[in-house]
Amino acid sequence: MNAPQKNAGSSSSKTFFLLATIAGLGLSAALVNIGGPSGSVPSTTSDLAKAQRLQKVGSVTLKTVQKDRPLATGEEVYKAQCAACHAAGISGAPIFGNADAWGPRLGQGFEALVQSALHGKGAMSAQSGGQFTDFEISRAVAYVANAGGGKFADPQAPAAEEK
Ligand code: HEC
Repeated sequence: MNAPQKNAGSSSSKTFFLLATIAGLGLSAALVNIGGPSGSVPSTTSDLAKAQRLQKVGSVTLKTVQKDRPLATGEEVYKAQCAACHAAGISGAPIFGNADAWGPRLGQGFEALVQSALHGKGAMSAQSGGQFTDFEISRAVAYVANAGGGKFADPQAPAAEEK
């Protein structure tokens, strides 16, 4: 009586250990899938569910420029990325629509203003490399500069090259 019971106990704890190991491996496999550069296809439905749950957390940090979407207008880019500083003049930013603040800057020419916005100037961090393309940032430059008294044309999309 004793011997079989002992065996049964030890085999069920072995089974438990085995299951725990498999579960652990499955989770690490799911984590590897998320972290991996190409993201291989999860093998089981439960891995897929896990992967999707983890992906919700992971994707927040992903910053991909979606080049297939329609180009944002200067106004859209301004509201999304520039207004935080330029609406109220944070850190000495020339205030939107304030010709006195913008006037002296406009003389540098459009290209110089675009370079300042893309690569940063003074307290303005580089505006390139975020959710908008450099071309879209240049449209926002035209938008803010023109609101401040500039007469720049809305930049035209570069033809076939990277937008
Ligand atoms: C973190 C705050 C901040 C954000 C965000 C910001 N700016 Fe600025 N911007 C500034 C400050 C501060 C200056 C003044 C810099 C200086 O002259 O020292 C400035 C200056 C400028 C100038 C004048 C540059 C020059 O050469 O005189 C342009 C043009 C400009 N910003 C455009 C933009 C555009 C377009 C965006 C959004 C894509 C943007 N900025 C986002 C803070 C910001």
